[in-house]
Amino acid sequence: MKILVTGGAGYIGSHTIVDLIENNFEVVCIDNFSNSDDQLLKGIEQITGTTVVNYNVDLCDLEKVKEVFSKNKIDAIIHFAAFKSVDESVGNPFKYYQNNIQSLNNILKMVEEYKIKHFVFSSSCSVYGNCNELPVTEKTAMQYAQSAYGATKQMGERMIEDFQKICAANFIMLRYFNPTGAHPSNLIGEIVKGKPSGLVPNITQAAAGIIPFMTVFGTDYDTRDGSCIRDFIHVSDIAHAHTLALQKSLTDNSQQLLEIYNLGTGNGITVIETIASFEKVIGKQFSYNKGPRRDGDVVAVYADNSKAKSDLHWHCKFSLDDMLQTAWAWQEKISAKL
Ligand SMILES: NC(=O)c1ccc[n+]([C@@H]2O[C@H](COP(=O)([O-])OP(=O)(O)OC[C@H]3O[C@@H](n4cnc5c(N)ncnc54)[C@H](O)[C@@H]3O)[C@@H](O)[C@H]2O)c1
Repeated sequence: MKILVTGGAGYIGSHTIVDLIENNFEVVCIDNFSNSDDQLLKGIEQITGTTVVNYNVDLCDLEKVKEVFSKNKIDAIIHFAAFKSVDESVGNPFKYYQNNIQSLNNILKMVEEYKIKHFVFSSSCSVYGNCNELPVTEKTAMQYAQSAYGATKQMGERMIEDFQKICAANFIMLRYFNPTGAHPSNLIGEIVKGKPSGLVPNITQAAAGIIPFMTVFGTDYDTRDGSCIRDFIHVSDIAHAHTLALQKSLTDNSQQLLEIYNLGTGNGITVIETIASFEKVIGKQFSYNKGPRRDGDVVAVYADNSKAKSDLHWHCKFSLDDMLQTAWAWQEKISAKL
């Protein structure tokens, strides 16, 4: 079984490749290093002893993508490649619509042309917008996406739903909540190019002195301490869900599967509580600024993950402390190289 992982040199893609190799899948990768470099591919090799072939190709370039498919017999695709910063997408929506939609469109063309039977898509809890019920289930109605990034994930899901009607293949869409932490080996983790966008990279970079301070955006929301509520989940738990999703797809011969799964722990925690947990884990305090609300942020979102647990037999192995400990270990390692 040869699996094409797009965006495999990135944060979640690299952890997923490790999990796939550990479960005896062969992997080939497309990543143009627009938000990564080859460091994580080397880390994959150190962990698994396997060298993954990467094609440095922009998925928006259809002819180059076709060349990869003509050279490899692909059995299944996991499509991670996308830009992912909510904040950046508010200031530069064109960049997000262009990359995230065009690359998905091209890869779906390959599904059709090469009759690929199994497709897993990286979606996001940002598709829910400011929802009316918590925790959110896969059936919770989507609201207006608060950012261009969230809109690209809503559109991506819609593109797949439309495409599934005319294509004999299985599609699984995984809605990640807030992936955090690093592989326990500390050989792969999140590489942040430029300004960090996620909360935990902001915390670890501030604690390491890479950025002068961190800001909590919005402390007057209607939550228990006024800051936003998120559902952090260890990246290796997210990664393993892809292997399970693929295995489910492979054992389903209907070629009509269209499933959505929430991947979160189900524990809603505020931004300020997350900072306090981090201080406890590393045993030191640091100060943060309180800033205004930020465009694009939803107030609160956390998952009902019961469908993934029952259908995929998935469960989370890592606690919040594990997430913060591994994120900090990774930050210390990459800071030492600067
Ligand atoms: N990290 C999160 O908080 C989070 C949350 C929900 C959903 N997601 C989704 O998960 C997926 C992976 O996220 P990640 O955190 O690993 O991001 P990442 O930026 O670390 O990885 C994405 C990879 O895709 C590559 N890429 C982007 N556009 C490309 C293109 N046109 N052609 C080839 N390669 C391209 C980048 O170089 C990068 O290595 C994305 O679709 C993201 O939207 C991430």
